[in-house]
Amino acid sequence: MEILSLHTKNTTYQMGITELGFVLHLYYGPKTDCDMSYLVQNRERGFSGNPYDAGEDRSISPDTLPMEYPCYGNGDFRSPAVNIRNSKGVYGVDFRYRSHRFLEGKYVIQGLPAVYAETLEARTLEIVLGDEAFGAEVILKYGVLPELDVITRSAVIRNQGTEELYVGKAYSGALDFVQGDFDLLHFYGRHAMERNLERSPVIHGNQSFGSRRGMSGHQHNPFFILADKEAGEHVGNCYGMMLLYSGNFMFEVEKDQICQTRAQIGFSGEMLDYPLAPGKCFYTPEAAFAYTPQGFASLSHIYHRLIRHHVCRGKYKTARRPVLINSWEAAYIDFDGGKILDIARGAAELGAEMFVLDDGWFGHREDDNRGLGDWYANEEKLCGTLKELADQIRGMGMDFGIWIEPEMVNEDSGLYHEHPDWAFAVPGRKPVRCRNQLVLDFSRKEVVDHIFGQISRVIDSADIRYIKMDMNRSICDVYTAAEGCQNYGKIMYEYVLGVYDFLERLIQKYPDILIEGCAGGGGRFDAGMLYYTPQIWCSDNTDAIERIWIQHGTSFGYPVSAVGSHVSASPNHQTGRITDIHTRGVTAMAGTFGYELDPSLLSDEEKEAVRKQIADYKKYWDLIQNGEYYRLSQPGKDKDIAAWSFVAEDKSEALLNVVSLSAHANAPVVYVKCMGLDPQKKYYCEEDGRIYDGGALEYAGVPVPEAMGEYRAWQMHFIS
Ligand code: GLA
Repeated sequence: MEILSLHTKNTTYQMGITELGFVLHLYYGPKTDCDMSYLVQNRERGFSGNPYDAGEDRSISPDTLPMEYPCYGNGDFRSPAVNIRNSKGVYGVDFRYRSHRFLEGKYVIQGLPAVYAETLEARTLEIVLGDEAFGAEVILKYGVLPELDVITRSAVIRNQGTEELYVGKAYSGALDFVQGDFDLLHFYGRHAMERNLERSPVIHGNQSFGSRRGMSGHQHNPFFILADKEAGEHVGNCYGMMLLYSGNFMFEVEKDQICQTRAQIGFSGEMLDYPLAPGKCFYTPEAAFAYTPQGFASLSHIYHRLIRHHVCRGKYKTARRPVLINSWEAAYIDFDGGKILDIARGAAELGAEMFVLDDGWFGHREDDNRGLGDWYANEEKLCGTLKELADQIRGMGMDFGIWIEPEMVNEDSGLYHEHPDWAFAVPGRKPVRCRNQLVLDFSRKEVVDHIFGQISRVIDSADIRYIKMDMNRSICDVYTAAEGCQNYGKIMYEYVLGVYDFLERLIQKYPDILIEGCAGGGGRFDAGMLYYTPQIWCSDNTDAIERIWIQHGTSFGYPVSAVGSHVSASPNHQTGRITDIHTRGVTAMAGTFGYELDPSLLSDEEKEAVRKQIADYKKYWDLIQNGEYYRLSQPGKDKDIAAWSFVAEDKSEALLNVVSLSAHANAPVVYVKCMGLDPQKKYYCEEDGRIYDGGALEYAGVPVPEAMGEYRAWQMHFIS
């Protein structure tokens, strides 16, 4: 068997090419030079058929072999990564090895987000597999980032025949394990309560998680972990599979008849019927795989580094984000220019650096039933032009930014009256409304051109330094009125290409503008969006306590630098919970940090606390944004406190954050154990003036101070 190995600093990913041309997945784990083909044990098994060219050998079956890119059509009856049909309705391909080559540098995918790296930081492997009978081939692409311990995958399906083919399923990558009894960790949720961790055993049969909403969605995040049963934060084998994509997706995990496990991730095959004319290609989105034997914290650090340095782009990839004040929870849509200036004045006095004018500044947006699609300033409401407003705010010493929702339209808008066919609707049926809005057909270039033109004019009209790009509904009624469209099975794929095209144009034309992604909070919190927007509004839930757990779940795959997080009013607008301003500040500091409240409603004492918070954030931002994040508590398990910390990569300092969750009379002392510190180093704690031993902080921890009441927060800064 010919062996193909991909090595990173600490891992090896190995494939083997059999005599019959099957490309097998042999091994993914700690680094090794060993030929791992001995792991594959061919045995005859009933009802698992054999390839014709195996002759009388009944032991070889694609149904039991660990396949590198499983296809439907060669006798593998487990869930396939790829399924193609021809125009007569014949399904199935039998992809066999043709060639491979290694290239310097990391491949790119035209029109889709992808991990990037300098030429010397990465290598690419391309393996070509083909099927003569169907006239199709697939190029499997692997990006190897040795320093990061990451392997990326994507695939290109090409029609080499003379007839049209239809791609019904084409995942980015699969991982077949011949052994192992895994748990699956996935992140489920709902609007305003995203990315809750759920851990469950992988069982016989197929479990799938994904989205058919046209967006990655609040309900399931395109990031999954397969882990040993014993794996925890600091120990245990775990494999991460993350999709760099923002639309329909699917993750499948299947334990087969002989207890082997197959995990796959990619664009969802549901409702995909991508027509491939002769000579044409279909490009899958990219997936990033990582393995570590050191548990979830180590896996998270791999993904945090990957996203911070090899996915996010532009000036704000490394620059400190401005401390901002957003008008949404301060005024919602109910404001005029005077009210906005009052909020801005109050925020400027407290030390905010950026004012973001959220929803309500454009068209006839008197409420959230109308106006989307008309991207021009409502000067009557703003009591002047957008430029005048921006200039006044700049005069207060703050930068200015706006909210947009380019993919949407209200029926009550000028745009809809002019172009009703630009909104998704199936002919003869009224479309589903959500927040009383419809979705623009971003698979059509003229629609993207028009919206981009409108929004560019707004940006050019005033000094705009920040854009919050929102998306407030799931997509259905998928139909395009585009001229000449013969097949609608490609629209959802092309819609997302349209969204990416819009974003790429925006960042190319305005490289200095900071863009925040958003979809009703964290409904499109994925690595695809992070290629265009270095941060995403994490959730519409700004309650400091629920946010702790939303941010906890988010942190498994995504770095703190990506997490939009603000201090809002108390009682909280979503839960009614009362927390003090310090606790809200500590929670919001595990993110890009800002405010979302009316400063005139704060007491003098709270205003003083805000000034101190802003100063603290500026002091700690580098540690927060670039440090290693440690989860020190678990939802459900830790009932008394929640804790997390940021530790500098060189372990020279750390910031410990603790929030109490319950109050008890005569309570036992609670200790928090720090992680990631250097056991050989001494650390000075700024808050209590003591010197601690790094090892002691890790093994024995620190006592949480005694306090009255729940939801109290503490920060401890340790310096070596
Ligand atoms: C979404 C966002 C909010 C706010 C509103 C405005 O829900 O997540 O932060 O911008 O839209 O309509």
